[in-house]
Order: sequence, then C-alpha cells, then structure tokens
Amino acid sequence: MKNLILSTLLFVGAGLLSAQQSYFKPEKMVETGVYYYPEAWNPDQWDRDLKKIAEMGFEFTHVAEFAWAQIEPTKGVYDFKWLDKVLEIAGKYNLKVIMCTPSATPPIWLTRKYPEILLEKPDGQTAMHGTREHYSWSSPKYQELTKKVVEAMAKHFGNDKRIWGWQIDNEPSHYGALDYCPAAQASFRSWLKNKYQTIDALNNAWGTAFWSGVYSDFNQIELPNEGRLISGTASPTSKVDMKRFNADECAAFISLQCKTLKDNIAKTQFVTSNFMHDHSDVDPWRSKDLDFICYTMYPVAGYTDGVGDQGFRMGDPWRISFANDFFRSLNGITGVMELQPGQVNWGSYNPQPYPGVIRSWLWNAFAGGLDFICSYRFRQPLFGGEQFHYGMVGTDGVTPLNGGQQYSTFMKEIRDLRKLYVPNAVMPKEYAARKAAMVYNVDNVWETTIQPQTFQWNERKHITKYYNCLKSLCAPVEIVNETKDLSTYPVVVVAAYQMVDKSLVEKWYNYAEKGGNLVVSVRTGLKDHNGHFPEASWADAISKLIGGKIVMNDMLGGNKMAKVSFNSTEYKWNNWGDMLEPAAGTDVWATFADQFYAGKATVIHRKLGKGTVTYIGTDTDDGKLEKDVLKKVYESVGIGIQELPEGVMVNWRDGFFVANNYSSANVTMDIPANAKIFVGITEITPAGVLVWK
Ligand code: GAL
Repeated sequence: MKNLILSTLLFVGAGLLSAQQSYFKPEKMVETGVYYYPEAWNPDQWDRDLKKIAEMGFEFTHVAEFAWAQIEPTKGVYDFKWLDKVLEIAGKYNLKVIMCTPSATPPIWLTRKYPEILLEKPDGQTAMHGTREHYSWSSPKYQELTKKVVEAMAKHFGNDKRIWGWQIDNEPSHYGALDYCPAAQASFRSWLKNKYQTIDALNNAWGTAFWSGVYSDFNQIELPNEGRLISGTASPTSKVDMKRFNADECAAFISLQCKTLKDNIAKTQFVTSNFMHDHSDVDPWRSKDLDFICYTMYPVAGYTDGVGDQGFRMGDPWRISFANDFFRSLNGITGVMELQPGQVNWGSYNPQPYPGVIRSWLWNAFAGGLDFICSYRFRQPLFGGEQFHYGMVGTDGVTPLNGGQQYSTFMKEIRDLRKLYVPNAVMPKEYAARKAAMVYNVDNVWETTIQPQTFQWNERKHITKYYNCLKSLCAPVEIVNETKDLSTYPVVVVAAYQMVDKSLVEKWYNYAEKGGNLVVSVRTGLKDHNGHFPEASWADAISKLIGGKIVMNDMLGGNKMAKVSFNSTEYKWNNWGDMLEPAAGTDVWATFADQFYAGKATVIHRKLGKGTVTYIGTDTDDGKLEKDVLKKVYESVGIGIQELPEGVMVNWRDGFFVANNYSSANVTMDIPANAKIFVGITEITPAGVLVWK
C-alpha cells in the first residue's frame, strides 16, 4: 500500500513537473511579449497593432487585466465577442496570449450595487470608483462576484489553444493602502481566533499587560489604525499580525481565483500573478498554488541615484538580479510580467532612461534564468492616468520608440542565441563554488519597519546591500526561506533576521558545523516570532552560534559619521553598530575606531566544526565594510572570488555568462582568453552588455 501511495505521488509529481516544463520550451530560453489594451483602441486598428507587435519580434501579447467593464457590462451578462476577435487576430500573427482576470478594476454597476465591496481607508473614507485595487479582498460579496466572472472567462477561454496562460488580478497589493471596512475587521477577528484559539493566548502574544491593553473577547479587537493612535503604539505584535493577516487575505483572494481557473481550464495553460518586486505589504511566497510567481519592474523613475553621474538613468545594479533570484525561488520558474518600456509618468520625476539600458535590462532578466519577459505596454496611452507613459510605439500608434527598437534588437539577438542552445548546460565550477543563499522571511521586514529604532533603518535596503555585495564578488545567489536545506550552499547569509526560534538557530549552527560558512548581520536573533525579547541576556539566542556576546548597540544621526577599523582600513558608519565581546576561540576582525567604545569588537569570526561563522555588527550606508568582510570570508576558506567593478552584474544561465554595466563609466571585463563572445566587446560602455561562453 505504502509503495502504491509513493509511486502515485511520484507519478503525480512527475506529471506536474512535465506540465510546468511544457509551458516553456527550454530551447527557446526566453520568450518576449507586450501588453495590449484592445478596449482602449478603435477595433479597426487591432489588426494593424497586433501585426506590428509580431513584426517587431514579440512572441506573445497580454490582454484584459483591467477590462471587467467590457467583459461584464451589466451584471451576469458577459461579452466575449471582442476578446474572441482579438484572439483570432493574435492567432493569425502567431502571437500567444496571456489572458488576465479583471479583478483589479470592478465596473460601476458593481460598486454602485454593492458598495460594501469597497476598501475603507484608515480615516474611514470609502475608496471611490474609477481607479484600481480599491476593492476589499476580504469582502465575501467581492469574492463571490470575482469568482463568477473568472469562472465565466475560464469556461469560455479555458480550452482555447491560443491562450498560453493566465494572470490573476494586477499587482495584487492595494498599493500599500490598508483596508478597515467591516468585512476586513470581521475577517481579522476570525484570523486571530484561528491563530490564537483563546483570548489569553492573544493577550500574551500581543503583550497587552502593557498600557492596560488587555482584551476579554475577540469581538473587542479592531485592526490597528495608526491614524487613531494618540501616543506610541500599544502592541507592535498586533501590527505585525495585521501585516500577516493582510498578506494571507491577499493570498487567499489569489487562491480563490487560481482554484476557479484550475477547475475549468486545460492543464496546458499556466496560472500566475504579477507581484511588485519591491513591495512588502503582500508576500508572493504565500501564493504557493500558482504555477509560478512573477514580477513587475521599473528601474528608472526618479527614486535612485544608481552608480555614478548617469546611474539615475539606469537604476540600481542589483534590482533585476535580486528580483530574478527572489521570484525564481518559489518553484524554479519565473518571468518579468511588466518591464519598463522607456520614460514613465508616476515617479517623483521621470527621467529618460540611459540610451541602450532597456536592452541591458532585458539581458539582465534573461541572465537570471527567466522564461519570459513582457513589456509594459505596446501603445503610449492618449488618455487616462498614464498619459506620459511610453509604450513600444509612440502617440501615433505606429512608430517604434527607442525602447521599442531596443526590444526588437534584443529579440533578434535572442533568436540568434537560440541556435547555440545546448540542453542541460552545467554551471562552471569556479562560479558554482561561490554559490550563496540569503535566508529571508518577510516577517523581519514588517517587524523592523514597525519598530525601526533609528529613522535610518531600512530592512530591505540592508538585505539588498548584502545581496549586492555578494554579486559584486561574482557569486550566484539564491533567496531562500527558512525551511530550505542549506547544505548545498558554501556560503549562507542571514541579514538582520530579527525574529528567530531555537530550531532555526540550531539549523544555522548545524549548517556551519558541517562545513558551511555562515554570515550573520546586525539585529539577528533579538526577538522571538511574537516580537518579544526573550527573558535572557541580550541576543542570547545567537551568542553560542556567533561565539560572542552583543553588549549594546549604537546609532547616530544622519550627518554624524563614526569609524570602524578593519584590515588597517577605516570605514564610515552611522546606521547601526553592535559592540561585541568575543568568547574564547573567536577572532576579532574589526573594531570601532572612535566614540566612547573605541577598540570594542564589531566584526567577529570563529571556526565552528568544519565551517565558520562571521558576525558583522555594523551596518554602513555604502556597504564597503560588508563587502570587504564577505571577501575575507570567501578568501579565508579558500573559495576564489572575482571582484567586479562597481555597478557590474554578472550572471550565468544555459551556458552563457552575461555582464551588465550599470555604472557611468566604461569597464573592461576580465574574461578567459579562450572565451567566445556572442554579444558586445570586453570594454563595456555604460548600459552595455557582454555575453560570452
Ligand atoms: C505598474 C502597473 C501597471 C501600470 C504600470 C505603469 O506598476 O502594474 O498597471 O500602471 O505600473 O508603469
């Protein structure tokens, strides 16, 4: 019997795997597509537009994500004729289609008839019609109506061979808006009941003995509301729970749609959703039932200086690579569903991207192993909230803009590269030897944001800084969750992992003991999963692991810099510094060079069994200290690194290395003399690309 169950499981598992693989053909490596909104254009132009999409080199298009008003113009009356026509034209030009569920934008008949489905803002105002993501995912009525429209679409399109797959909603997130409508309040209470079972357990977890916050019944509880608090915050744990609850609600709403689709569509059609790559109010990893998760990406919108004088036109070097490594890790497949096409409209200011950088982003996305890349959007809109937003073609609807031309160049290059595709390429040994995992749990982002302790604390920045350091040593990186087996990673980084439990720390201990090299940074291990300090000495949870005690920490104002000395070099810091007392057998690698604690240790390193543990107790703005310590970790255990020039990313996939230069100066890549170059030359200009084998 046992064997039968096992072989059935294996069979089902194998079935799943091959179905997944069949969405994407390995020999194509990456396929490229573009968003099209037929509902916004004269139907007479559909043929011309889709023809142009195919001529420019795209292989798929993406439709319907905001078209609920056109799909269901009145309650229960569906109109699919126009979409049938679009599919017919797409098919004529060999374009596959990603069909979307329209739940991001309920139509007016719906919001007028059922106003209770609208999100309620913290100040009690009800969201208004005409924008998007303004629905409450906690509303049973909205869930019911969404299910109906999704079911109708799935029944109509679920066996259509022209449909490649489905996208659920659009950037599900509420864009950071918090929902206080009665349905959300009720759902929060049942979520809490389910989690804590008894009100005493909740009181303990939330620490309500503080400031007389004790509850006697779940029905007394409200969603924490910042705007209504007078001084301080009664329970930080309640706020973390609210974040967890919101992320669960979002995942459940996606799951409802996913199940409805899966019940009605052919197995050959995939189901995914497109998450914002840098938005932490939702948690893409919670959506495990999707075939894969994917992301949206806009590197240039006035929010970064990047590297050098022109970096603001190229974006942060780590941004696309990090998204690739984060989104791929859920189940091995991902893509970028929206990639910036050129200038956008919604940034604090909207610079023109640097000439050529869009092609560079495309190569960076390719290099991360992505199966597809989709540009946002084909035509520049003539009306609506995104008028100044570029498309692949400009306002005349036909002339490719510079971004469109860069897409065409990339797609031509990929078609050439496909001819050189070799199945099952093995990652080069030297590169694989540097492989690092970064352990991630969104709880830590939420918790440290709620109680940052210094206005300079930014958990995501801290994590991506470590990621960038690893990449600058030319290491392949995977972002993994805490259940992942770490034994295959020579290096594991645990960055600002504030909430831990005993078994997690034990796992890290065993990893190092068996030969792994663990790097731990500030704030790690300070709290348990309820956000409480344990009744023990400070950071007791990790003292044994790191081979030392954390005596205290310090932080300075924005303009005041202090110094750390490491390997006879001084580094500046002001965000966070831990003063450490090493245990016997632990080496001191760096000490504070000024302030009243000058001479105290802040980076310590120890051997543990067959491996090592390094604790980096200072957080710097520029990441220079962190990078040099990581470098020493690699060197001290004999793993060769390749130090890349600032702003250069190197990734490997399917036998090809890809280097992207995000810096403002030319860089010359040091590649083996026998390397065969396919794209570019070894001296890479800003926003340039080099592809070699
Ligand atoms: C994305 C969003 C799209 C569109 C785009 C404009 O974040 O998902 O619908 O608004 O931004 O850049």
